[in-house]
Amino acid sequence: MAKTTVLRTNTCGELALKDNNKKVTLCGWVQHVKNLGGLIFFYLKDRYGITQVVFDPQYDKDAHKLAESLKREDVIQVFGRVRPRPQGQDNMDITTGTIEVITDKVNVLNKSAVLPIDIEEETTTNEDMRLKYRYLDLRRPCVQKNIITRHKLVKASRDFFDKQGFLEIETPILAKSTPEGARDYLVPSRVHKGKFYALPQSPQLFKQLLMLSGFDRYVQIARCFRDEDLRADRQPEFTQIDVEMSFVEEEDIYLTMEGLMKHVFNEIGVKVKTPFPRITFKEAMDKYGSDKPDVRFGMHLVNINEIAEKSSFKIFTETVKNGGTIKCINARGCAKFSRKDIDELEKVAKIYDAKGLAWIKVEAKEGTEGNNIEDKKIEGMSAKFFDETLAKALVEKTNANVGDLLLIVGDHKHHIADVALGQLRLHLAKKLEMIPEDEWSFIWVVDFPMMEYDEDAKRHIAMHHPFTSPKDEDLSMLETDPTKVRAKAYDLALNGVELGGGSIRIHSRELQEKVFKAIGLKDDEIASKFGFLLDAFKYGAPPHGGIAFGLDRLAAMVCKEENIREVIAFPKTKHAESLMDSSPSEVDTEQLDEAGIKLK
Ligand code: AMO
Repeated sequence: MAKTTVLRTNTCGELALKDNNKKVTLCGWVQHVKNLGGLIFFYLKDRYGITQVVFDPQYDKDAHKLAESLKREDVIQVFGRVRPRPQGQDNMDITTGTIEVITDKVNVLNKSAVLPIDIEEETTTNEDMRLKYRYLDLRRPCVQKNIITRHKLVKASRDFFDKQGFLEIETPILAKSTPEGARDYLVPSRVHKGKFYALPQSPQLFKQLLMLSGFDRYVQIARCFRDEDLRADRQPEFTQIDVEMSFVEEEDIYLTMEGLMKHVFNEIGVKVKTPFPRITFKEAMDKYGSDKPDVRFGMHLVNINEIAEKSSFKIFTETVKNGGTIKCINARGCAKFSRKDIDELEKVAKIYDAKGLAWIKVEAKEGTEGNNIEDKKIEGMSAKFFDETLAKALVEKTNANVGDLLLIVGDHKHHIADVALGQLRLHLAKKLEMIPEDEWSFIWVVDFPMMEYDEDAKRHIAMHHPFTSPKDEDLSMLETDPTKVRAKAYDLALNGVELGGGSIRIHSRELQEKVFKAIGLKDDEIASKFGFLLDAFKYGAPPHGGIAFGLDRLAAMVCKEENIREVIAFPKTKHAESLMDSSPSEVDTEQLDEAGIKLK
């Protein structure tokens, strides 16, 4: 594709020996100036690459003189001729490494002040400064590569959906609040004082309404806004690959989305195997202590209630008696851990509300190698509570070998035991470098519960969102035992990250009303918040379902970045600020007056 413009004939990344003797004009930023007495060399850089440019006073005196005044990051236009580099001076690290451009004219397009941050590939600049000068940070090749990869992912997605007959349709940014579980960003209306728009947490209701309008297959690379606590994988504004389809069941969504992932990953050179495995929410929590399990390694959680309840450890016996759970993971080969190491692990478990961490080391009985079950014995903090028979049962149940460390969390809330140990599993796997780096392990997590009880709000809340359809076979429990109802909801997890989530939706007005009531909405609230949706359901709503993927998360994973900020051109800090343009910022009293707002 030609990138020739009025100002340049070529980019800085494309010239090669085949262009020998060609007259060229290049534009770019000055890098690494080298003044070797007579000759001046520097690298000229643009987003396509780097070209070595030479100024020789014998070749052109004026150009050479001007080159003496050039500094790093000045923007210039050079006119010259391509020639092979002198023998032995090729640089195979860059694509243009066999040639250089000998220059007879240079135009300074703009001078640069000394940069306030270091923009080398491996920068020493702290993140706040990088974000304050993001437009300079974006000049770093590794950051440019991330932004380019992100573009490729979007392009590959759009191509895939277009081929499959999806239509990309934009939905409003100024809209009514949608309940995705976070706080809304509000926008005051000047015209309707005292009234507010909400920025969309997702296009959920609009995409459902588009199904009602007959559009059948919708996709949107959609900006979403959520005022929530930020983490490495959360930004206040982020992008979804948002999808909705009519006349579908779960299987249609799985098949289409597996096709999407296969296509998108193929475009970046990764072969993905389909169909993806599936796991129920319950099994994921039981086995991995997470609803987004990282299945690249084992170290599964094992329920040891049956053994622990017979032990003499009161905490365990009481926990089981009260309906709680005792869970264990086997940290292979970790019996060598010191007390300090284990204290560190306990600290991790406690972050996730575990009350403590019990541990047992598996050793060989004296005079044996410990190869047979009879030759193994247990030692350590909690070993004394298990007699010989129980110790044997524990070793068997956890498939433990000599040198293994068993880590145990019990809690009367099984969710706490699961999550604390699940997080410990991840922590240990990282520490022990057990996670294969180049594996892409997708897994569908299915059969989510429809609702959970929110202790703070003292009511049931929808686990996905309230437009999610209950499983037909669980419908009868909606009013009697809502937490037992499973939903037609699914998440796609990749290497332990929730990449996307969706559901088959309710399309009947009566059922939708029932679900709103089950999550504690009163008639007037239902009418004011969702009246338009219920109204729409009167006019022939087709069965439909969909999903949304976090594009930023997908891009970060593909770019092997820990934080999604690295794949967003202008991200916010973890305090939801933009350090570059200082937003959020105060506004004029006049602007507040116009919006009808008085600050406290
Ligand atoms: P959900 O809320 O699960 O579903 O969001 C879908 C996906 O969006 C990504 N995501 C985020 N990424 C970055 N920053 C955030 N703050 C953030 N929040 C969510 C995640 C997540 O899996 N309307 C439904 C989808 C549907 O039912 O079709 C929805 O938004 O990768």
